[in-house]
Amino acid sequence: MGRYIVYGGKKLFGITDIHGSKNAALPVLCGCIINSGLNVIHNCPKITDVFNTCHILERAGCKIKWDGSTVIVDSSKARFIVIDDELTGSMRSSIIFMGAFCGRFKKAVVSKPGGCRIGKRPIDIHIESLEQMGIVITEGLNCFSCSAGAIKPCEINLRFPSVGATENIMLSASCADGVTVIKNAACEPEIEALAGFLTSIGAKTVCENGKITVCGTDKFNDTEYTIIPDRIEAGTYIAACGCAGGEIFLKNANAAHMREVVNVFGKIGCKISFCDGGIYVKSSGKDIMPQNVKTGVYPYFPTDMQPQLMSVLTLAQGTSIINESVFENRFNHALELNKMGANIEIEGSEATIKGVTKLEASEISAFDLRAGAGLIIAALTCDGMSAVNGAEYIKRGYEAIDESFKDLGANVRYESR
Ligand code: UD1
Repeated sequence: MGRYIVYGGKKLFGITDIHGSKNAALPVLCGCIINSGLNVIHNCPKITDVFNTCHILERAGCKIKWDGSTVIVDSSKARFIVIDDELTGSMRSSIIFMGAFCGRFKKAVVSKPGGCRIGKRPIDIHIESLEQMGIVITEGLNCFSCSAGAIKPCEINLRFPSVGATENIMLSASCADGVTVIKNAACEPEIEALAGFLTSIGAKTVCENGKITVCGTDKFNDTEYTIIPDRIEAGTYIAACGCAGGEIFLKNANAAHMREVVNVFGKIGCKISFCDGGIYVKSSGKDIMPQNVKTGVYPYFPTDMQPQLMSVLTLAQGTSIINESVFENRFNHALELNKMGANIEIEGSEATIKGVTKLEASEISAFDLRAGAGLIIAALTCDGMSAVNGAEYIKRGYEAIDESFKDLGANVRYESR
C-alpha cells in the first residue's frame, strides 16, 4: 500500500517521455504464447499489470528477460496451466489469456474476472463469440473452462464492439484453419497494434472500418515488435497542464490516436500542436471553458480519460456535463473531488460539474487506475500538500508517474506505507 504526496499550486514546464501503451502491451504479451518462439517486444511499460502478465507467462513455461524497456518472451517451452485467481489477482485483462490459450493449446481454464469499481463488466460477448468458433465453454463457480477440437474460422457480428472480446477472438482466430471475420469490432489503436503483432508472427490480420479479418495459420515465426505510445498516459499530462497551466512537451505521444482528446482539451482552452516527435501543450490554467462531453468507443472521447477530464472541469467557468456511456459506475472519483471543494452531482450516467474557483489540498483516495490519475491532477492545482491514497491502482497503469511529473517540474512523490 502506498500513496502519492502532491505539493501543488505550480505551473508545469518541461519535457517528459510517453511510455508504451498498457492496453496494447497486455494483449500482445498474452499473444506471445501463440508462436512457440521468440518475441522481442520493445517499448513495454514497466507497470504492475505488465509484470503480472509476465508472471503468468513464466508460470506457463515461457522464459522472460527484460533489457531496459524491451521484454523478450521465449514461448518455445510454453505449456498449458490453469490460470486461477491466485495468478490473475485483480487483473481483469487476464481474461484475454482465454483466446490465446484456446489458440495455442485448444483449451483454457481462466478464473472469473469478477466485478470491479467501475462497473459489473460481464464477459458474455467474449463467451458467445468464442462459442461461435467451436470452443465449448463451461462456467464453474470461480472459473471458465474452455475446450475445442479445433478453432473454427467463422464470421462474428459483435452486438457491441467490446475491446476485450475483439482481442480474445483475434487471438484464437490466429490459430484457426482459415479466415475469421469480425464485424462491428472494436477499432481502438490498441486493436490495430494487436493486429500488427499477429501479422508479425504469421497470422495476417487486417482492420478496416470496424471489420477485422484474421487469416489463421499453424506456421508461426519469431518476431520483433514495438508497442505504440500510451494515448491515455499522454492525455493525462495534457489534462494536468490544462488545469495547472504551463508549457509541456510529450515526447513520442501520437496525436493521430488522440484526435477527440486533443479536440476537447483544445475547446477547454489548451493550445496543442504536434510534430513528429510528440505533442506540445500550452495552457494558462485559467479561463477553463466548460464542456459537455460524452464518452464512447473509439474514435469518440475515451472513458479512460473521463476522470482526468472531470478534474479539469471542476475549475471551469460555468457548468459542464459528462455523460459516461461505456461503464455504468465510473464516477467514484467525483465524491473525492467534492471533498476537495468541487461541486459535482451525479445522476445515473450523467455528472453535472459546476465550476468552482479553486480546490483545497486534501487527503483523498483512488479506487481505480484512471480515477487515481485524475485525483493527482486535481491535487496539482491546489496550494499546499495533498495525499492521494491507493497508489497501487495508479501503478497498475502508469510507469513512474511521480518521475514523469518531476520531469514537468511538479512535486509528486511516492510514499510506501
Ligand atoms: C478495455 C480497456 C479499458 C477501457 C475499455 C473501454 C484493456 C486492458 N482495458 O477494457 O482500459 O476502459 O476497454 O475502452 O484494454 N461488456 C459487456 N459484455 C462483454 C464485454 C464488455 O457487457 O462481454 C461491456 C462492459 O461491461 C463495458 C463495455 O462493454 O460496459 C466496454 O467493455 P470492453 O470494451 O470490453 O472493455 P474492456 O476490454 O474490459
